[in-house]
Amino acid sequence: MKLLIDDAHIEQIKKIYEFYPVDGVTTNPTILYKVGGKPFDVLKEIREFIGENSEMHVQATARTAEGMVEDARFILNRLGKNTLIKIPAIEEGFKAMKILRDENIKFTATAIYTPMQGFLAAKAGASYAAPYINRLDNLGYDGVQVAKDIHDIFCANDFETEILAASFKNSQQLLELCKYGVGAATASPDIISGLAKNKVVESAVEDFLTDFSKLVGEGKTMKDC
Ligand code: E4P
Repeated sequence: MKLLIDDAHIEQIKKIYEFYPVDGVTTNPTILYKVGGKPFDVLKEIREFIGENSEMHVQATARTAEGMVEDARFILNRLGKNTLIKIPAIEEGFKAMKILRDENIKFTATAIYTPMQGFLAAKAGASYAAPYINRLDNLGYDGVQVAKDIHDIFCANDFETEILAASFKNSQQLLELCKYGVGAATASPDIISGLAKNKVVESAVEDFLTDFSKLVGEGKTMKDC
């Protein structure tokens, strides 16, 4: 499962990239609003930092299919290789997806709340479909199960589309989808750094180091022995 950062704050992105194995960055209009400034200044700084080997998912913001396609071409032109255009899985969005597919522009179908949206997005040629796990949970549905159902639909129909699970509020939601083998998940820096942060783990590591210091002396490591 690929793991992406769902944020646009460059310092947070740099911190996650320094410590964790991640595959790219996803943004949406709300995320860009939270950062402020000019969207393409923010996005270009992220692209320069993560490099062209990392995926970057950026949402088209027009309301019509034609506008979404124009946005897509513009975003690609500005952000280059390995940029996927997020297209909302709504009526105008599906129309845009078919045009993008015919132009060989890669896109991620976003705002997915139902399995059949996922099915239509895959038929329209999406590289990814992004179900909103926590938002579904908040509506009283089982977000993880919806993502699993969409994954099953893709497998049963031999679609190449992968899940890009989004909208997480805890590690458990991510763990469930990781075990199921979905293609990708995107989560906030807090969720990602929280995946392995645990006082029990830290204390176990600290005990090892304290014992080693007692053996060889304070501040010494293997290379000093
Ligand atoms: C993904 O495509 C969405 O933009 C995003 O992950 C939504 O997350 P939120 O529910 O935390 O806003």
